[in-house]
Amino acid sequence: MDNFTFWSPTLFEFGKGSEEKTGELIRLFGGSKVLVHFGGGSVKRNGVLARVEDSLCKAGLPFVELGGVKPNPRSGLVYEGIALCRKENVDFILAVGGGSVIDSAKAIAIGVPYTGDFWDFYSGKAAVKSSLPIGTVLTIAAAGSEGSAGSVITQEETNLKRAAGNECMRPKFSVLNPAFTCTLPAYQTACGITDIMAHVCERYFTNTRHVETTDRLCEAVLKAVIEEAPKVLANPNDYEARANILWAGTIAHNDLCGVGRTQDWNSHDIEHELSGLYDVAHGAGLSVIMPAWMQHVYQHDIPRFAQFAVRVWGCDMHFDDPEATAKEGIARFRAFLTAIGMPATFSDIGAKAEDIPILVKNLGVTEEKPRAGFMQLAPHDVEAIYRLAL
Ligand code: NZQ
Ligand code: ZN
Repeated sequence: MDNFTFWSPTLFEFGKGSEEKTGELIRLFGGSKVLVHFGGGSVKRNGVLARVEDSLCKAGLPFVELGGVKPNPRSGLVYEGIALCRKENVDFILAVGGGSVIDSAKAIAIGVPYTGDFWDFYSGKAAVKSSLPIGTVLTIAAAGSEGSAGSVITQEETNLKRAAGNECMRPKFSVLNPAFTCTLPAYQTACGITDIMAHVCERYFTNTRHVETTDRLCEAVLKAVIEEAPKVLANPNDYEARANILWAGTIAHNDLCGVGRTQDWNSHDIEHELSGLYDVAHGAGLSVIMPAWMQHVYQHDIPRFAQFAVRVWGCDMHFDDPEATAKEGIARFRAFLTAIGMPATFSDIGAKAEDIPILVKNLGVTEEKPRAGFMQLAPHDVEAIYRLAL
């Protein structure tokens, strides 16, 4: 196991009625004027926004609203949010929604104290040094941004989707009421489930040895999700199954499962090019890319893929042919994604084979500078992964 620092200080308020504490929590973390940031309207339709704002009023907190965050959040609204916060002297940002809203809130939060263009943090031109505090009220189990130190934004002019991260961007608190996720459509629920599984897989496929504790944590999260997913899809109002998936989504990405080991993240970056260019849901893009990545790299460490097959998917171990076991695990993962209604190919998500050179180029990988990870990826590897997804 590698040395590590684990500092994940987000306060999680979990359960029915937890949103009633929102105002109190903002006060606890020093907020006195709030930007309430939200998406395209689901939180208005299902009453979540009204309940949260009621809590702010009870805590005597003045606030301004900025809605309209789109899935795969864009830079344009971030600029608007930064200007609004400065004008209104906002000192705390509250995201009410999913990963897109939270990521947009994080971008605004780091943009307000910065004198340059906030995109500098996403283009790699500048490192994040400070942020306004943020809190979240989560409405979808998926991205894990409610407990993560990262944010992903798409630049409007270029369609480049890029990440920025720093410990100061981790939410001070996150309110997780599983009942809020019951209004999610089945497709969006399944996209979230796929993303959660991908966050675990990005950590599970490692070159670090002797990481049994985190291996077992990863396997537990995956097995719980595999068990609970059919229940929420069959009955969207199954509170207990929603609760299990919601917590799985958070611990899949606050790095509890990833400390002390090298991590991969190539599937994510390869996917971000797809959701940047075609504006598909991140989870749907991952459903297409992650099994293709597995197919391309499994020979790098057949025993690890065989372990994944046996421990996560319950495959029999073929001791005389571990490769067959490894392949069976990948096949079961694919079959699971299909069973929950996720896409499998480029054409399922409207992506085009002729765009593959653009996708590879946008990723910025070169022969001289291959991508690090579980297995190093040169441009021809990335191209092969996209082609395996056709
Ligand atoms: O915009 P509204 O109307 O709210 O509708 C949203 C949106 O259309 C809807 N929705 C959310 N909660 C709902 C609901 N509809 C009904 N009832 C509810 N309770 O769901 C749609 C998708 O929302 P979005 O926030 O985009 O989903 P998700 O949480 O999957 O976030 C995806 C974004 O997170 C990024 C992705 O790249 C993508 O841009 N990621 C962020 C990460 C991070 N910051 O740590 C890590 C992830 O790997 C990921 O890259
Ligand atoms: Zn993800």
